[in-house]
Amino acid sequence: MSVSAEDMLRRTVPDSVVDCVGNTPMVRLNRLFGADGVEVYAKLEYMNPGGSMKDRTARHMILESLKDGTIRPGSHLIESSSGNLGIAIAMIARVYGLKFTCVIDPKTSPANVRILKKLGASVDLVTKKDEHGGYLHTRIRRVKEILREIPGSVWLNQYANERNWQAHYHGTGREMTEQLPGKPDVLVAAVSTSGSLLGCARRLRETWPGLKTVAVDVVGSVIFGGKPGRREIPGMGASRVPEILSREEIDEVIYVSDREAVQGCHDLLAREGIFAGGSSGAVVTAIRKLIPSLPKPCRIVTLFPDRGDRYLDLVYNDDWVEQLPKREEEK
Ligand SMILES: Cc1ncc(COP(=O)(O)O)c(C=O)c1O
Repeated sequence: MSVSAEDMLRRTVPDSVVDCVGNTPMVRLNRLFGADGVEVYAKLEYMNPGGSMKDRTARHMILESLKDGTIRPGSHLIESSSGNLGIAIAMIARVYGLKFTCVIDPKTSPANVRILKKLGASVDLVTKKDEHGGYLHTRIRRVKEILREIPGSVWLNQYANERNWQAHYHGTGREMTEQLPGKPDVLVAAVSTSGSLLGCARRLRETWPGLKTVAVDVVGSVIFGGKPGRREIPGMGASRVPEILSREEIDEVIYVSDREAVQGCHDLLAREGIFAGGSSGAVVTAIRKLIPSLPKPCRIVTLFPDRGDRYLDLVYNDDWVEQLPKREEEK
């Protein structure tokens, strides 16, 4: 049987796992938010091959740096990551023959540490808390030490790298404009570097300038001027203000506690059958808090950044949840 040219195009098989990043599905969350003229659409970023939306950030930062010569075959990459970006970089580094050292802290989930090592990354653990009670500053100080120790090594620096938000502008945000059934009123996203929220917002606003953007931050994070404090869920929040943050492009910030994020994860699983990570639960809780203040009808779009599997020892473990501060202890 002869195969038509059109058929051949359809059959094009990706060259590597890196080419499988992106084109994630979008689903409507009818069971959690079906009523009262509210439509909520979530982009399932956990369906990226490395398990999170950070595959996009890593791919864009690395491929653009290979193009402009900042990174060459054999280069040694360094990054500070709570896990997701680290795993994404490790996966891509394998494909492109790059070395990679990932600076992590004790909050990185045990599963993520094992995955990083299996992907061939060198894992460098910092254990000393910084002046804000988190580990970010200590991790960054360690990155700078390693840069001095390994001549020619390259720090991707997701908190300051413009290619971080650009990855979402060209990828996630563009796909959202193609997948949404009509004009979105609100974009809601959990924030750490702010790259995903800003990249998507910038792309969506080109088509729908009136879009409202809502950042979801965790109690204890200092990104939007919050009081520094204990935070246990990896991925969300930060103990410093990211260089790429553009505060004036964000209309509202909603704070969610670790416990509320856990509750959101359990509701998402029970009502929608979606097994997602801590920041997805935080987003679910934030949308619940936001809905009463929105004019109806309204259409909300959001992201579920990573899968639940890697949180089995955390969010989905009752003993771990039990040790989280209760509401009255949070302040
Ligand atoms: C699970 C998870 N959710 C949310 C975020 C926040 O994304 P961004 O850094 O684009 O603000 C991250 C970032 O590491 C993450 O790993």
